[in-house]
Amino acid sequence: MLIAGNWKMNTDARSSVELAQGIVREMVDSPSLTVAVCPPSPLLSGVAEALKGSRIRLGAQNIYWADAGAFTGEISAQMLLSLGCHYVILGHSERRQHFGETDGGVNSKVKQAVSTGLIPIICVGEQLNQRKAGKEQEVVALQVRFALEGIQVKAPNAIVIAYEPVWAIGTGETATPDQAQQMHAFIRSLIRQQFGNTIASKVNILYGGSMNPSNAEELLSQPDVNGGLIGGASLKADAFGKIIRAAQLVV
Ligand code: PGA
Repeated sequence: MLIAGNWKMNTDARSSVELAQGIVREMVDSPSLTVAVCPPSPLLSGVAEALKGSRIRLGAQNIYWADAGAFTGEISAQMLLSLGCHYVILGHSERRQHFGETDGGVNSKVKQAVSTGLIPIICVGEQLNQRKAGKEQEVVALQVRFALEGIQVKAPNAIVIAYEPVWAIGTGETATPDQAQQMHAFIRSLIRQQFGNTIASKVNILYGGSMNPSNAEELLSQPDVNGGLIGGASLKADAFGKIIRAAQLVV
């Protein structure tokens, strides 16, 4: 089980450290539960310092697919690894929507992450009109297949998938536990087709989209929901702590 906080473009040098310290205080000791926070990149080293001595892992929110070079403004996988990052969120719907992230671009970034040893949290999810038209599985299948095309996955923990229905992100509207379970089982079947059952049965598939302390336990109890990618509710240590404890109850 993996609970990851996506801080998006929030906090600053001081408040990121305070938030990280608060989350360290909320952390529980549960061997089968991994907790990660993904602050904005300029704040990673301060947060890394604040997390020292805890089991909380560090992640980032984006990378570029090249190793290094003349790419002004971009961030490499190697930079993140050198700061102690384990994870990177890739293909988030906000990046697809506002920054022109394409399936091809996501695929290049996933390749770069996996080949350098950074674990990509690959985000997929349909928009409301696509769900209304009954096309949610078709959309998600394309996103998953594109993102993973040509990727070699040797261990189930080398990648993470996050199902984030776009209509549930930041809206207060959540997928029902049934809707989440159905899509997660479908995504697992796609992983099984590509990588076989050993990987598929153990890969973490997270739910994201308005997960909060009151709905976390029910969503996380679904058999194919292996954790959460949490935006708004990860910005308050006590709310994130409650989600961590909900996860601890169901692992
Ligand atoms: P939310 O965001 O929890 O605020 O809906 C989740 C995400 O975008 O990862």
